[in-house]
Amino acid sequence: MAKISEQKINEILSKTDIVDLIGEKVTLQKKGKGYFGLCPFHNEKTPSFSVEPERKIYNCFSCGEKGNAITFLQKTSNLSFVEAIEDLADRANVEIDLSNMKKVNPLSRLYNINEEALNFYKLYLSNTKPGTVAKKYLEDRGISNEIIQSFEFGLAPAEFELLTKTLTSHGILVSDLYDLGLSKQSKKETFYDLFRERIIIPIKDEKGNTVAFSGRTYLDKDKDSPKYINSPQTKVFTKSNILYNLHNALNAIRMNNRVVLFEGYMDVIAAHRAGIKESVASMGTSLTKEQVKLMKKYTNNVVICYDGDKPGIEATERAITLFANENMQVLIVNLEDGLDPDDYITKYGVEKLANFINDKSIDIVKFKYNMQLKSTDLKQMLDIERLKKNVFDLIKNTSHTNVDIYLQLLAQDAHLSDVSVRQDYEQYTRRSQNQTGRKRIYQPMNRLHITDKFINAERCILNYFMEGYRYVEDFNANFDVLFFISEEVRDIKIAVEDLYIYDEEKESKVITLEELQSVLSDDEYRYYLNEVKYTKNIDLRDDEYMDFKEVLHYYFDNEIQIRQIEKEIALASSSDVKIALAIKRDSVLRPQKGGKHNG
Ligand code: GTP
Ligand code: MN
Repeated sequence: MAKISEQKINEILSKTDIVDLIGEKVTLQKKGKGYFGLCPFHNEKTPSFSVEPERKIYNCFSCGEKGNAITFLQKTSNLSFVEAIEDLADRANVEIDLSNMKKVNPLSRLYNINEEALNFYKLYLSNTKPGTVAKKYLEDRGISNEIIQSFEFGLAPAEFELLTKTLTSHGILVSDLYDLGLSKQSKKETFYDLFRERIIIPIKDEKGNTVAFSGRTYLDKDKDSPKYINSPQTKVFTKSNILYNLHNALNAIRMNNRVVLFEGYMDVIAAHRAGIKESVASMGTSLTKEQVKLMKKYTNNVVICYDGDKPGIEATERAITLFANENMQVLIVNLEDGLDPDDYITKYGVEKLANFINDKSIDIVKFKYNMQLKSTDLKQMLDIERLKKNVFDLIKNTSHTNVDIYLQLLAQDAHLSDVSVRQDYEQYTRRSQNQTGRKRIYQPMNRLHITDKFINAERCILNYFMEGYRYVEDFNANFDVLFFISEEVRDIKIAVEDLYIYDEEKESKVITLEELQSVLSDDEYRYYLNEVKYTKNIDLRDDEYMDFKEVLHYYFDNEIQIRQIEKEIALASSSDVKIALAIKRDSVLRPQKGGKHNG
């Protein structure tokens, strides 16, 4: 490395105002020829740190730290010698070319300090009375000594400034502890420890450098304090770039060619206990793009295992999008009952968790399907319609086998008949094909689709009418007899009704096809066979009948609304008002009358 000339250094120092420079970090007060303040290099309450502008040096009578502008910058700003010179030259407007000088990693000093802090915390956990209490807490949570060792847990003492005192007595600068977030500064400008009476969990980067800490409460008296506190963002810790346990997990990630992602520290530890060592955590906050890229460096496969509660599910949805953006393969594990992995182990044991993660993970389609189903009120017809549409959207570009599986599943889960679901799906795909080429005016995309459900419902209901008079009676009690959506259906219904009415044993009667044919025109009968009749032999179920009825109720309610709006349109004074009303009308779901009855 080329040397910077003595002359140059002297020039820079002579042009530097050391009082200004140090004054940026320390509050200085003039006394005689010098300036005094609280020493930035150790923890003190009365000022023993002096700056002499004439000799351009600083000196602490208490801790013995002394030096010039260069050493001050080096120590307080975590700079190498060359970087400090560069900075000062810049401030003093001195020309200097340092481009050929290699810089050492200025962060390694900070990593070492964190490492020293970690050693302090580890020692405190293993060798003290409070440590025994903390270990008991961990033991009660199923965390063995072995886990404590391998995850390098520690303990922060209750004393206000034991870490700060101890480390500064080892020659570590309090300004470094401050920069690392380990020490905080009080109003009186003294330094004290950030972590107190907490179990310490070190956070490492992918290279294994200790970049931050998290501290968890473990005493009953702290139940109301934040469960975890973390190191602030520092020169060595950017939260969004770090995954908890990545460094430890790297081998297992490579070996298993997957990474399992959790929300929290304790989840990772639970997974580790279950033998799933390729586990990392996003530490409570929502996953970032950087974290996804970090995982992608090592594998393309990720299993998301967030908590089973609502926030966990929402976080999973966000994570899926992030992984998809990076073209990663995603599986999802949904632990039941809103449990997190740690609870799960406590409840079901270590093996069950491993089995669950390995065998019960689902793909994105299934996850989204489950979400749709969960958010559907199966008592609400409109909800079911929405569910169907969303599931159709979800599966339309997947294989035939997959479509088959999901249609069956949907029928089962939503208590619908296989046939009606299949018919709806066919209609849906036909619609979306039709819609690609044609432009529609004033029609929301899903309107046609949903209105088809009404037509479909009244057709399906005819199948019930064939099976017993009670359905007809029930229907008549609920609906205006002549108020049907399509004329064909209405006419067939009236014919069916007549067949019952003239039969003395109408209560036990079932209408046969021959009977029906005898009272219908050829067109009507063909329509019945092609459009109405269930083609498979399926059991008619009352609950499905009720569902169809609800669909029709919904339709008729809207129909009344639509008629009202249409009256207003007829009376409207200007075409602007008419258009506005028409848009309003079209936003109310409404079928296409006489639409596709013959094909
Ligand atoms: P235990 O409650 O000890 O089982 O820990 P956990 O890891 O299961 O915690 P939880 O599932 O409640 O939260 C998931 C993660 O969110 C934790 O691991 C932390 O990273 C983070 N977190 C939870 N609570 C807090 C908090 O109070 N403050 C901060 N900063 N982070 C928290
Ligand atoms: Mn937990």
